[in-house]
Amino acid sequence: MTEVIARAQEPFVPRQGVPLISLRNIKKSFGSVQALRGASIDVHPGEVVALVGDNGAGKSTFVKVMSGVHAHDTGDFEIEGKPVRIGGPADASAHGIQTVYQDLALCHNLDAVQNLFLGRELTGPSWFGRRIRRAECEVRAREVLGRMRMGSISLTRPVGAMSGGQRQNIAIARSILWKPKLLILDEPTAALSHSAAEQVARLIRTLADEGLGIVVVSHDIHHFVVKCTDRIEVMRLGANAASFRSCEVTGEQVVNAMVGGNEALNLAA
Ligand SMILES: Nc1ncnc2c1ncn2[C@@H]1O[C@H](COP(=O)(O)OP(=O)(O)OP(=O)(O)O)[C@@H](O)[C@H]1O
Ligand SMILES: [Mg+2]
Repeated sequence: MTEVIARAQEPFVPRQGVPLISLRNIKKSFGSVQALRGASIDVHPGEVVALVGDNGAGKSTFVKVMSGVHAHDTGDFEIEGKPVRIGGPADASAHGIQTVYQDLALCHNLDAVQNLFLGRELTGPSWFGRRIRRAECEVRAREVLGRMRMGSISLTRPVGAMSGGQRQNIAIARSILWKPKLLILDEPTAALSHSAAEQVARLIRTLADEGLGIVVVSHDIHHFVVKCTDRIEVMRLGANAASFRSCEVTGEQVVNAMVGGNEALNLAA
């Protein structure tokens, strides 16, 4: 990515008010493995927060706590200022949290509309055999894809025939359909070409500009994280090692913090 995808506010203005989601001092062990040793994150509406760290730092575990896949052992979890105990992914979804995992979980033989509504199809009444209301699904698909500036995408072509970037965007569109407040993306630009990654970065910014809070796990520090996000939380050994404002940091500084070059940096305060 050669250019900086326009950030929500420049110069950076620290977000005020109640965060959409706030996790404080989260701890989580798997048997004797302490995956999270006190991890924290705040995300405000309209903000793109990158979660970075070396392999095994605890990013996926942290994200899975946010999305209800794992229950945390101790720590505070608040949504819009209210303490919550998330019982599972459906509960997280009911609280407005949607996650797009790295494998995207798309069916390559199905088209965009079928993938968008997979398992949640709009159907007719039971006396009519609950037939899928394809026309209505298409209208809603067009609506959401149009909002995401993907109006030109084919609704009838199998998703397997689309580019990696288009597939990533379809997976994001699928989560947007349910009007989340917080979107969590796990490695959205991994294995994408330069231009496809740029397309995904633009979409992320468009959604943030609409008021969504976004958490992005990414190893793409130099091209994506420092250029396309607002804030960076660096994790090391299951806890926060550093925080940066993306517009004030270089990729080298972030990588240093990831591998342990700087102790307890907090440049985002
Ligand atoms: N279900 C599990 N059971 C046991 N240990 C686990 C489980 N999930 C994660 N861990 C351990 O917790 C630690 C953190 O793993 P996690 O997957 O959160 O790291 P990560 O930062 O996402 O790494 P990567 O960049 O490689 O994806 C690792 O030591 C990992 O082996
Ligand atoms: Mg991971």
